[in-house]
Amino acid sequence: MSKIIAILNQKGGAGKTTIATNLARALQLGKKDNNVLLVDSDPQGSARDWNAASDGALLPVIGMDRPTLDKDIKAVKDNHDWIIIDGAPQIAKLVVSAIKCADVVLIPVQPSPYDIWACADLVEIIKARQEITDGKQPKAAFLISRMIKNTQLGKEITEVLLEYELPVFKSHTGQRTIYAKTAVDGSTVLDATPSGVAAREIKKIVKELKEFL
Ligand SMILES: Nc1ncnc2c1ncn2[C@@H]1O[C@H](COP(=O)(O)OP(=O)(O)O)[C@@H](O)[C@H]1O
Ligand SMILES: [Mg+2]
Repeated sequence: MSKIIAILNQKGGAGKTTIATNLARALQLGKKDNNVLLVDSDPQGSARDWNAASDGALLPVIGMDRPTLDKDIKAVKDNHDWIIIDGAPQIAKLVVSAIKCADVVLIPVQPSPYDIWACADLVEIIKARQEITDGKQPKAAFLISRMIKNTQLGKEITEVLLEYELPVFKSHTGQRTIYAKTAVDGSTVLDATPSGVAAREIKKIVKELKEFL
């Protein structure tokens, strides 16, 4: 059964593309015959730029940045085990379309109250969709992105997040230069340092995602 995971947050810089590329690659490496497709729904095309930097060496990446995204994805869904959607910034129709077709929405958010408050509209759209589908689709959770080393998620941050009444993944990405470094040549932390800290945190996210499903 194929699964569609949308990485959404209207805010630029939240870590969507970083998580989408690394997560897609981790899922592909996780099982030999896993067929993973990365869908770039951002008209800016960051995931496509990432893919071009390696000459498409790692993953199939296609651009779908029209409001027909949900239908376009459904047309190719059965050919893949996993479809990861890299979300667009501030484009309402595209985001609604991604929410419509996703099994899971992950919301990467930096651990700052301003960033968390900026998710209010997105959470509202997700909840509206869940209501239409009797609370079943899509499942949604926050994923903390760019956590500073050796800090715990502050009580204040946890409280602000809990107000949304959505689960928060225990796994997260830390603030690490390797994410930016590997992006430059279209690689991932799993390829650069397969047993490094960053690769381990991405694998934890994969594990938690599978449990969440
Ligand atoms: N965990 C991280 N550690 C360090 N830098 C990161 C991390 N996640 C993202 N970045 C960097 O932050 C910038 C924005 O991330 P990006 O994934 O492009 O966000 P978005 O797609 O939400 O706009 C990029 O330069 C990226 O390399
Ligand atoms: Mg992006």
